[in-house]
Amino acid sequence: MGRAMVLIWACYYVLLGSKCVNCLGVNWGTQASTPLDPKYIVQMLKDNKIMTAGLGNKIKATITQNADVYYSGSQGPSAGDFRTEIRDTVVKISRFLDQNNCPFMVNIYPFLSLYENQDFPIEFALFDGGGKGVHDQNIQYTNMLDANLDTLSYCLKKAGVNNVIIIIGEIGWPTNGNKEANVKMAENFYNGLLKKLAMKKGTPLHPGYIEVYLFSLTDENKKSIAPGFFERHWGIFRYDGQPKFPIDFSGEGNAKMPVGAKHVKYLSHQWCVLNDDMKNLSRVKTDLDFACSLGDCTSLSYGSTCNKLSERKNVSYLFNMYFQMSQQSVEACDFNEAAKITNNNYSTA
Ligand SMILES: *[C@@H]1O[C@H](CO)[C@@H](O)[C@H](O)[C@H]1NC(C)=O
Ligand SMILES: *[C@@H]1O[C@H](CO)[C@@H](O)[C@H](O)[C@H]1NC(C)=O
Ligand SMILES: *[C@@H]1O[C@H](CO)[C@@H](O)[C@H](O)[C@H]1NC(C)=O
Repeated sequence: MGRAMVLIWACYYVLLGSKCVNCLGVNWGTQASTPLDPKYIVQMLKDNKIMTAGLGNKIKATITQNADVYYSGSQGPSAGDFRTEIRDTVVKISRFLDQNNCPFMVNIYPFLSLYENQDFPIEFALFDGGGKGVHDQNIQYTNMLDANLDTLSYCLKKAGVNNVIIIIGEIGWPTNGNKEANVKMAENFYNGLLKKLAMKKGTPLHPGYIEVYLFSLTDENKKSIAPGFFERHWGIFRYDGQPKFPIDFSGEGNAKMPVGAKHVKYLSHQWCVLNDDMKNLSRVKTDLDFACSLGDCTSLSYGSTCNKLSERKNVSYLFNMYFQMSQQSVEACDFNEAAKITNNNYSTA
């Protein structure tokens, strides 16, 4: 997936034709029920002065690796190495990349570390400092990104790969679908990250500029939720291209609401909701499972924005989501008289 995204990006690079000054890329989400028209996306990127990654005129090939190809345990970056069972392969790939002047692209997700381990210190996932951090070889690591990148440097060094440039293929923070996936934390993470990148401080082992692709530009409401409900909420923008939180892509700390996509066509003002005279909700149980599996009920899950809806509103939410994701087709609101189409806005803020 990472590679496909990069290729998509490469196309946009050509499309935009802009000169890369401050290199920062953004992965663009395509797994949505109504993906935005590419021309709106290009306009959004121009409006927000988000530059494409520094691929130069030549598009370099690479193979994206997830950060779980290596480990460091609790002893810090210098103890890191590629995982034993895949070490041979990853070392081969790394040497190949090195010999061919290609970058090593890695996806790093501090959010996932937090999601997978309840004891993971939140401050270490963000960039505010304040955490205890990790002390290693006279270096105090205060954020996971630095520790993770330097772990990778140690892994490469141990494999005899010394010159390969490390690029971050995907990094970001989701805004829904989990208690730590929310707009406040995403805003904090991104603005901390962008400020850090703008200062070109790099990591303790590799000071300087880092090429980074943010994940993601827009939400994808059809993405697989196997890894977690948050998967559909990685966007800095909602799937209709509207911003979620203030951000400063230049990293200068002047965060403001970015410019949303323009000329987006919306469906008509109608909603599919639970019929008032449907009193026995156990009768709609199978309809709910159906609507949830084909629509998107990730925002209703524990820790999510709509988790506190009443039971009846829950049902309306599910019916309506399926209806909207089916482009408001009349059949998509046919739940054996349990649902009706209405022009009254049933959404709650
Ligand atoms: C509600 O519907 C279920 C399933 O159809 C049924 O078993 C149950 O008896 C109904 N309850 C009432 C109070 O009508
Ligand atoms: C609403 O639906 C979600 C997801 O299916 C569930 O976790 C939650 O408990 C439901 N809430 C109510 C009040 O039924
Ligand atoms: C419906 O109401 C909600 C909550 O007030 C609002 O956020 C939303 O924009 C409205 N939708 C439309 C299509 O008017």
